[in-house]
Amino acid sequence: MHAKKINIAVDGYSSCGKSTIAKGLAKALGYTYIDSGAMYRAVALHAIRNGWITPESINEEVLREQIGGIQIDFKPNEVGSQDTYLNGENVEKEIRSLEAADGASRVSTIGFVRQALVRLQQEMGKDKGVVMDGRDIGNVVFPEAEMKLFLTASPETRAKRRFDEMVARGENPRYEEVLANVKERDKRDTTRVESPLYQADDAWVLDNTHLGIEEQLQRALEMFNKITTKK
Ligand code: DC
Repeated sequence: MHAKKINIAVDGYSSCGKSTIAKGLAKALGYTYIDSGAMYRAVALHAIRNGWITPESINEEVLREQIGGIQIDFKPNEVGSQDTYLNGENVEKEIRSLEAADGASRVSTIGFVRQALVRLQQEMGKDKGVVMDGRDIGNVVFPEAEMKLFLTASPETRAKRRFDEMVARGENPRYEEVLANVKERDKRDTTRVESPLYQADDAWVLDNTHLGIEEQLQRALEMFNKITTKK
């Protein structure tokens, strides 16, 4: 057992298995997993429900006024992971829809939304022992994180993974639509002005197009051991 806890940042494109690796690492190390994307999704869901986001526009003025009143928490569920709560309501299932994903991608381009969520995320990681996945964790949220992973995989592989997840949840997606959504989000995530997705200089890149979960996890744990025994 490693006495001194560190923070682990897991960044990368959408649907490239960040949460699977981050959760696996957290479980193996006894760390806390935090899904930062769920926080953007929860803000988006709240905005969609209130009509502040429509397919055409976002009412930034109202969102700016209301953002301080949006409460986001994570609570353990009975299957050993965590559910996302929006103002006390369990919204774990609802935030996984394509509509919420698209809304999250859009609200995540807004500076004041990012500032509010980054502050919350930094607070959650202040005692270390956190594995957080997202887009800006290694660069903005925890630039001092001792371990940074950057995951990538081809858009087609990622779309197929998300498609399978949706089918498993009983949804009826179209592959072409899921692929288009993945590509659209990649474009928005990497080209936005506020904290675009890019690989931190000190991040370790893992292309998992052809790698299984166990193999990735094993490599990540080897890296963790190297980092923590160096200290
Ligand atoms: O990882 P995800 O698909 O749940 O993320 C949803 C959206 O939120 C995605 O389009 C990118 C954005 N996001 C972000 O900008 N920064 C983060 N740290 C996490 C997610």
